Amino acid sequence: MPRSIIIDTDPGIDDAVAILLALASPQLEVLGLTVVAGNLALAPLVGNALAVAELAGRADLPVYAGCPRPMGEVQQNAAAAHGEGGLGDLIPPPASRAPHAAHAVTYLIETLRGAAPGGITLCALGPLTNIAVALIMAPEVAPAIAELVIMGGGSRGNVTPAAEFNLHADPVAASLVFAAGVPITLVPLDVTETVKSTPERVAAIRRVGTRCALAVADLLSPGPPGDKGAPVRPAMAMHDPCVIAYVLAPELFAGAAANVTIEIAGDFTRGMSVIDWRGRTARPANARVLQTVDAAGIYQLLAERVANLP
Ligand code: RIB
Ligand code: CA
Repeated sequence: MPRSIIIDTDPGIDDAVAILLALASPQLEVLGLTVVAGNLALAPLVGNALAVAELAGRADLPVYAGCPRPMGEVQQNAAAAHGEGGLGDLIPPPASRAPHAAHAVTYLIETLRGAAPGGITLCALGPLTNIAVALIMAPEVAPAIAELVIMGGGSRGNVTPAAEFNLHADPVAASLVFAAGVPITLVPLDVTETVKSTPERVAAIRRVGTRCALAVADLLSPGPPGDKGAPVRPAMAMHDPCVIAYVLAPELFAGAAANVTIEIAGDFTRGMSVIDWRGRTARPANARVLQTVDAAGIYQLLAERVANLP
């Protein structure tokens, strides 16, 4: 019986690889893509989600536009890391369809409301705005969430010294989500940054030769050399694909339960994931935080599965 998932995403180079990995895996039934502003503004990200689904031959997969801004003040986007179009140098054919008319939050609430307890796994690949708003509007749907797997946080920030992009973009939403009592698995930078797209790993995917394999290889490759010779954009670490890989093959990861609290404001710590590894506070564990990953196993899984796509 395939596991039902909804992917909440701001596609994004690594989001696109994660979406393709999910669509390539028969163990998963991707019910829909809900898009949230993050890497770029909402509109181009919705177009990217539609285009990636069609690249995978899934013009049937519903895509929903979600929240166009965070709950707190708007922060900088990640165009420097993902390119002005959001997918690096990949320019997929434009989508032939529009997103679904329903708002992503409405879709999340209604789908969870109609699901059995523990019936749906949510994979959060961007800022947590959509998921937080859904849980505020309809807290009674929380029992339908089997697991909320979140890419975010970590001990070393990538936007500030303290904060990772997804949590920094909307710390108010993240704080609400981690306090909602939902079963959370956190996939932090400490894990995802060890999963590096080396030329050998990317070449193995490119050898598969299909349009989706070539697209994944292009997405995971560094940008073209800049005027100083270094690539304009380094190869992307496999942040978001680790979320899908965890759902597919949790044995590739190890982690532990801990309390995770999100710093909402701070001159130096806005968006920081404060992980109480040593139990120094009375705050109960509210997440399983992943600590290690078999990086080679991730790429083997990706190369195997992407061959299932056109
Ligand atoms: O910090 C990495 C995260 O921020 C990833 O989800 C990437 O897509 C960006 O959104
Ligand atoms: Ca993302």
